[in-house]
Amino acid sequence: MLRHAYSFFWFAVATNWIAPVFIAFVLIATGCRPNRTDLDTDHVVRQVWEMDDVAFGDIVQFENVFWEPDDTISLRRMIIDDNLVNGRDVLEIGTGTGLLAIVCLQNGADSVLATDVNPAAIANAKYNAAMLETEKNLQLRLVPKSSQGAFDVLRNDEAFDVILSNPPWEDGTIHEDLDHAFYDPGFALMDSLLQGLPKRLRPGGRCLVVYGNVSAIKRLREQSTARGIGFKILDERSLDDLEENFLPGMLIELTPKPLDAETDR
Ligand SMILES: C[S@@+](CC[C@H](N)C(=O)[O-])C[C@H]1O[C@@H](n2cnc3c(N)ncnc32)[C@H](O)[C@@H]1O
Repeated sequence: MLRHAYSFFWFAVATNWIAPVFIAFVLIATGCRPNRTDLDTDHVVRQVWEMDDVAFGDIVQFENVFWEPDDTISLRRMIIDDNLVNGRDVLEIGTGTGLLAIVCLQNGADSVLATDVNPAAIANAKYNAAMLETEKNLQLRLVPKSSQGAFDVLRNDEAFDVILSNPPWEDGTIHEDLDHAFYDPGFALMDSLLQGLPKRLRPGGRCLVVYGNVSAIKRLREQSTARGIGFKILDERSLDDLEENFLPGMLIELTPKPLDAETDR
């Protein structure tokens, strides 16, 4: 009799609440998450990268998506060590695997809007953000091939506290999606960034870009100066001492003059 009462007690407890709570606890603790039907799982994984700068997991790189974390070492240090994005709305142009966007969200950014012209990159960034649970304040937008300007996917009223980009570094022709990581045909992306910056950067905001190509940096300096945009290299190295292509990438701050509220918008 006592044995039956004992079994019944455990059956009742287990079926009412202990079992569901226990199972949910085990699933969460072991990292099992509900199936995600919104993630694009058609892509081949090229490699999985462990990064000290990324908390709680690894960065997955899909096939045909750019990966060279040495490009952005100094930019990641500014985000992590110098509080660059804490409490701020960030735009990242050309997100690739989502590395910088995720580092921004893990270091206190209020929101990140990240764009890319390569559909595999958008799927890759979405996947990484989901796996690292940094999706909540992340928006991803695919830039259409027909209109690839730096700010072409933004609404007219969208502006940001911080604008970041590790854009393609060289002028060249696009044959396949991965080429967008390396080539900026006619430097149209660079020029559209400079053109739209005064409108898209909020007063007091910061725009930081990374280049590792001497000619591109000299061109950026010329074009910035011609448009009245402040250009400052945040790096100890001198362009004269560097090879045409070099790593790590060089961090450059672009500072537009504030817009005249009446005439420039
Ligand atoms: C050098 S990769 C940098 C990727 C990533 N931010 C990183 O640092 O690992 C440049 C990225 O910009 C994207 N891109 C090129 N042209 C673009 C455009 N017009 N608009 C948005 N993204 C673009 C490329 O597809 C590529 O993912």
